[in-house]
Amino acid sequence: MPWSTGSACPGPRVSVAAVATLDVDDLVARLRAAESNTHVREEVERAIRSFTLPTSAERPEVDVLHADDELTVVHVVIPPGLPPTLPHDHRMWAVVGIFDGQEDNEFFRRPAGVLEPSGGRSLRSGETVAMGADTIHAIQNPSSASALRALHVYGGNLVGQARSMWTDPGTEEPYEFERAWADTFT
Ligand SMILES: [Fe+2]
Repeated sequence: MPWSTGSACPGPRVSVAAVATLDVDDLVARLRAAESNTHVREEVERAIRSFTLPTSAERPEVDVLHADDELTVVHVVIPPGLPPTLPHDHRMWAVVGIFDGQEDNEFFRRPAGVLEPSGGRSLRSGETVAMGADTIHAIQNPSSASALRALHVYGGNLVGQARSMWTDPGTEEPYEFERAWADTFT
């Protein structure tokens, strides 16, 4: 029925659909069945675009949702206004996807044993990036107002993986979570 002049406008009908919580077991099953890196990335995209994970988003969180010899799934929450992690490697492939907010990735290489910046990638809600096993990066939520909520998927058991972090460009040290994230978690 067309609107007539003077009629009371009821305003738009807004239905707020509840976003379902991510089923981690289902995601892991889908990732296990993935037949290519492209398929893995598609599953991460599906997860971040279709589902959510509960969090207060008021304090930093790095929650390991799943870890076995083939896959690690982590929910990363970084509130606004915090400094970046230390540069670090993973020594396995990784796919990062963003539920909400922004994650700035700074990448590094080390042609002569010393870290050199090699570009960056800013990811926003609904976006993903794939990283190779030799990637070295640091991440930060660059926002002063919004929390970052991200899904990080790794092609192995990241929890038990010996790997490295860099406290300055020339100093490679064994990775320690508490030190790599110390400034972010302060
Ligand atoms: Fe990382």
